[in-house]
Order: sequence, then structure tokens, then C-alpha cells
Amino acid sequence: MTEISEMILKHGYLPESIPASMDLFEEIEKLKKEKNAVILAHYYQESDIQDVADFVGDSLGLAQQAEKTNASMIVFAGVHFMAETAKLLNPDKKVVLPDLNAGCSLANSCPPADFKKFKEQHPGHVVISYINCTAEIKALSDVICTSSNVVKIVESFPPDQKIIFAPDKNLGAYINKKIGRDMVLWDGSCVVHEIFSEQKIIQLKERYPEALVIAHPECEDHVLRHADFIGSTTGLLKYTKDNPAKAFIVATESGILYQMQKLSPEKIFIPAPPENNCACNDCPYMKLNTLEKVYLCMKNELPEVIIPKHLQQAALNPLKRMLEISKQHGL
Ligand code: 13P
Ligand code: SF4
Repeated sequence: MTEISEMILKHGYLPESIPASMDLFEEIEKLKKEKNAVILAHYYQESDIQDVADFVGDSLGLAQQAEKTNASMIVFAGVHFMAETAKLLNPDKKVVLPDLNAGCSLANSCPPADFKKFKEQHPGHVVISYINCTAEIKALSDVICTSSNVVKIVESFPPDQKIIFAPDKNLGAYINKKIGRDMVLWDGSCVVHEIFSEQKIIQLKERYPEALVIAHPECEDHVLRHADFIGSTTGLLKYTKDNPAKAFIVATESGILYQMQKLSPEKIFIPAPPENNCACNDCPYMKLNTLEKVYLCMKNELPEVIIPKHLQQAALNPLKRMLEISKQHGL
């Protein structure tokens, strides 16, 4: 192993001191031009990263942008499964992630060997996997979905088709209830979306009776039950922009509040409170990325996301199927 790979393994990125006087925004813009790079960022990234990005979006929007980009290098300001998705769609392009340790509890909750056994225990089932999973799990799936296209993806199968839904049990249970399916659910969840306190949301609603509760479908049922609207990050953002309400209680990761406030400066956005008095509605993985690390990964073109050869085609097929179904439905 080279010294560089050892450093990346140890830190998740290649550490380097950056002069305090450096204007990172300016340097990143220069690197974009120099290297024909595009920065794709998820809404859960810190606000500086969202500001420097060429596109900010939800998982589906980011995959669609990755599919159509002409850039030579994709800088993925998000988590590993998202960068992996971009790489699957662009095997010949360089895809870099500011911090290689930016994982995801949902992706971690589904080890491939265990999932393989689970599949064997359910013969005759097709597998729909939420995009928040590793390339190994994608390779074991028939089709991928995100929170914005999940209904259309599930409905692309006849009602009597037996389905395994992985890895998010909360999203799966929500869809089972919403459209009357009986999908078998893998027991995975997101650490951020399971932290909200039902009791404190009820108290907030009493304090701000005019506020609407909006929630991401990765939340548990006892939180979703109180929601006036449930949707993907893009769906939630659009709802706050279009809805005339003046205040919203937001049950998802806190990063999205930046765009909500930007689009509707006159409205009030209240983060749904977690069980403890912690900053738990910050995703610990998403927040590993910083503006400094974005700059360093562009400059060094490292850490790079690589997909093992044997997984490439098998993981790409269900992803392509998802993009095709989404296109058919104008998503
Ligand atoms: P979306 O942005 O696709 O709604 O996903 C939310 C999420 O948890 C990403 O990790
Ligand atoms: Fe994963 Fe949850 Fe973080 Fe999204 S918010 S990356 S699902 S841990």
C-alpha cells in the first residue's frame, strides 16, 4: 500500500494544511474550470458546500444529473452510496468524494452476505432496493428506488407480485400502508430519521398551531402519523415553497432548512426535535464533508470512488431500470 492510500484509509481523505487566507470559494471555482469538474451536492450538506455546488438535489435528482453530465470529473458532495451511483453511471469518469468515511447507517444495515440468505429464504420475490444501499446490494436487486419515485417503482409490479423491500423498513412500511402492498421488509433504518420525538412534535404543534408538520418517509410511523405532508427532500422543499403556510415543523436532516429558508425567507422553519437534546438531526456521515475537503479532493483528485469490476454491470442494471421508469412517469 502506498503512503497516500494509507493516509486516506486512516483519515478518510488526504489531510493537508490550507492557508487561512485562502479563498476556498474562489479556488474551487478555478479547479472546476481547470479540471472540467462538476460538483453535485445533496441537500444535507453544509450550506457552504451547497453554495459552491453546480447542482443541489435529492437522490433521484443527483443520479439524473450524474447520468447526463459532460464533466470529466464528478465531485460528489454527499455520501458514499451516492458517489457510487454516480460512478456506476459513469464508469469512465473520475468520481471523487470529499471524505471516504461518509457512509450511511441504512447502507451499513444491510450486509450483502446476510441479504443473500434473506433472498434465498424468499423465493419468487423480486427485490426493490432503496438507493441508500451499497453496490453489492444493488447487484442483488431487480430495481432501485428513491423516496421520490418509490410509489411508481413499486406500482410497476402487479399487485400479486411478491416483493422484498430493502434496506429501509420505515420507508417500506410507509409504502405498504399507503398503496396497500405487503412487501417483505429488510430490518434497516436511518439513524437520523429515527431520532425524532413524537411527544415533542405534539408539544410543538400545540405551541405553533398554525405550523404544518412535514416529514421524510424514512421517519417512523409514529412521526409520519403527525405529518401534513410526507416526501423526499425535493418534495419537502417544493411543498414549503408552494404552500401558503407561514411556519413548518421539519422532520428530516437539518441541512435542508438552508434551501427552505433561501426559497421562502419570510417563512419560519422549525427543526423537529430529537429525543435527546443533541444535534442528532445532523447526519454524522453527511457532515463529514467540509468545504476544505471539497477543495482538497478536487485538487488531489482523491479519494476516488472505485466499483469492483464484478459488480459494475449487475449494480448498474437495476439503477438503469429505475431511471427508465422515472422518465416514463415524468419524474
Ligand atoms: P432524498 O434526498 O432522496 O429524499 O434522500 C434522503 C436521504 O436520507 C439521503 O440520504
Ligand atoms: Fe444515511 Fe440517514 Fe445519513 Fe441519509 S440521513 S445518509 S439515510 S444516515
